Amino acid sequence: MTTIGVGLIGTGYMGKCHALAWNGVKPVFGDGPKPRLVHLAEVSADLAAQRAEAFGFEKSTGDWRALIADPEVEVVSVTTPNAFHAEMAIAALEAGKHVWCEKPMAVALADAERMAVAARQAGKVAALGYNYIQNPVIRHIGRLLEEGAIGQVNHARFEMDEDFMADPEALFYWKSEASSGYGALDDFGVHPLSLIHALFGGVTRVMAHLAKPYADRPFKGGGRREVQTWDIASVLLDLKNGASGVMALNRSAWGRKGRIALTIFGSKGTIAYDQERMNEFQLYTTSERSGEQGFRTVLTAPAHAPYDRFIPAPGHGLGFNELKIIECHELLNAIAGTPARIIGFAEGLEIERAVHAMAQSHHEARWIHV
Ligand SMILES: NC(=O)c1ccc[n+]([C@@H]2O[C@H](COP(=O)([O-])OP(=O)(O)OC[C@H]3O[C@@H](n4cnc5c(N)ncnc54)[C@H](O)[C@@H]3O)[C@@H](O)[C@H]2O)c1
Repeated sequence: MTTIGVGLIGTGYMGKCHALAWNGVKPVFGDGPKPRLVHLAEVSADLAAQRAEAFGFEKSTGDWRALIADPEVEVVSVTTPNAFHAEMAIAALEAGKHVWCEKPMAVALADAERMAVAARQAGKVAALGYNYIQNPVIRHIGRLLEEGAIGQVNHARFEMDEDFMADPEALFYWKSEASSGYGALDDFGVHPLSLIHALFGGVTRVMAHLAKPYADRPFKGGGRREVQTWDIASVLLDLKNGASGVMALNRSAWGRKGRIALTIFGSKGTIAYDQERMNEFQLYTTSERSGEQGFRTVLTAPAHAPYDRFIPAPGHGLGFNELKIIECHELLNAIAGTPARIIGFAEGLEIERAVHAMAQSHHEARWIHV
């Protein structure tokens, strides 16, 4: 295969990110098929035509089903709001396309289950947009854990905070509607859960508490609308490796812009990382002499693959969009049948099960086994 035909549905925040990845993957990695940007879909034909011209797609449509029906499209990026993921991803798989779908899989667990079945039956690659597992720092932390650099891991803390919903007067939009899911749990929680999946294999039981900082928000049509989602979640977890864990999520956290912090405590040291400083991590090991022990900061460098594919110099740093280029490359590896670091629909379903178990735990005020 020398080229692969790409379809893109949605061109907002993530749609642009996928378009940049499809444009960047070949120049950065040099291997695999060259993406051919075939067809782009948006809510209207005008918007689709405008975005197709900007992103470099050959055709555009205001009807996403026309994109799915296009025989030149071999892989479909689904970057629409959560409520559309199941319908679009399943239609693409049934039409024999590979799928790259944004997280979370779906709002309802039954839909996520249908997506996993559709992927299995189609025999096509179905990957989810869990870009943070692609960070060279996270990959390196995984290697350190495997090598036992901090000994036996006994506890891990995960936080994800942003402030885009911190203003009580920020307009009501789809993320405050029940149709988007629970709120912080499926909007944010799935990201730390993807890291837990990559580093520890998943969770076995959960105990959660959800909270709403604001009961209503102004509506653009006038008046105020009741907020139907929970912007805050606090969760106790047991990890599959036997360690205990804590996850704290807040979409209304003033001052936090893109925090995904993890602290991993082991019998011989500690590792700390925060996505707001995504080009470094902190390492403390007891192997240092006792008078010289302390956290040291390690900056990303070509030694942290695949940083080297972007920049030959250490300490210059990658960005969020570059994680998506790495994810796109892994997706192409999976399509080629070579080993790939992706969270597919089958593993994604485990993440969804954990999220729904957390919501159940909140409603029933008890531990739930996942
Ligand atoms: N992986 C990540 O780090 C990350 C970050 C942000 C958002 N997301 C996920 O990406 C998805 C999209 O979020 P976003 O922030 O890009 O939203 P957005 O509102 O910026 O963009 C959504 C786009 O989809 C288009 N759209 C809606 N319905 C459509 C339809 N029927 N046909 C074609 N286009 C349609 C909208 O016009 C809009 O351009 C969500 O599922 C979200 O959870 C993932």
